[in-house]
Amino acid sequence: MPAMPGVGGYVFDAYGTLFDVHSVVEAGREITADPQALSLTWRQKQLEYTWLRTLMGRYEDFWAVTESALRWTIRRLRLEATDAQRRRLMEAYLSLACFPEVPGALARLAGRPRAILSNGAPTMLEAAVASSGLQGHLEHVLSVDAVKMYKPAPQVYALAPRALGVPADALLFVSSNAWDVAGAKAFGYRVAWCNRLGAPEEELGLPADVVVTALDQLPL
Ligand code: LAC
Repeated sequence: MPAMPGVGGYVFDAYGTLFDVHSVVEAGREITADPQALSLTWRQKQLEYTWLRTLMGRYEDFWAVTESALRWTIRRLRLEATDAQRRRLMEAYLSLACFPEVPGALARLAGRPRAILSNGAPTMLEAAVASSGLQGHLEHVLSVDAVKMYKPAPQVYALAPRALGVPADALLFVSSNAWDVAGAKAFGYRVAWCNRLGAPEEELGLPADVVVTALDQLPL
C-alpha cells in the first residue's frame, strides 16, 4: 500500500465512491428490461445538466437536476413510467448502501478529518449517510448547494479546505469519477482515483497521484 506522508484529511466524492448506486438500477427493472442502460443514460444526463446549469448560471439543486435527467432519459429510451414509478426511481437515491469496504476503510483513516464533498443536495446526502450507516465516520458533509455551482467548478473544491482548515495540497481527495479526479487535481488537491470498474484515465493531462480499486487501499 502506498504511503503518503503529511495527509491532513480526506475528502470523498459521494455517488459511486462511497455510495453504491446499484439500488437505482434495481428500481429501474420496474419500467425496463435493460435497467443498466436506463441507469447509464440517466447518470450521464444528470452530469450533463450539472455542467450546463453551472455554465449557464442556472443552478437547481441535485434532486431537481436528477429528476429532470430521469424525465429526459425515459423519453430518450421510449419508456413509459407512471408518477409513482418515477418517484420510486428517485427515492432509490435516498436509501443507498455504501460499498462493503467503506465503513472499515473510513475507520482506518480516523484521527484526521474525513469529509464528503458532493454534488448531492444536503437532504439527499443526509439520507444516504444515514441509510448506509456512515454517520459516525464523517466529520463533515459538504454540498455544492453552498455555492450553487457543480463540480468541477473551483468554487466547489474550495469548500473543503475552508471547512476542514487544511490546505488543498495537504488533503487527499478521493473519487471514483475520472473527471472529478481531474477537477480536484486542477484545483490543487492530492488525489486518489478509486477506479472500481477499470475505466480509462481521462485525457485531460491531470492524472491522480495514486490509483486504487477499493477504498481500503488508500494511503495513510
Ligand atoms: C458527487 C457525484 C459527482 O457525489 O458523484 O459529487
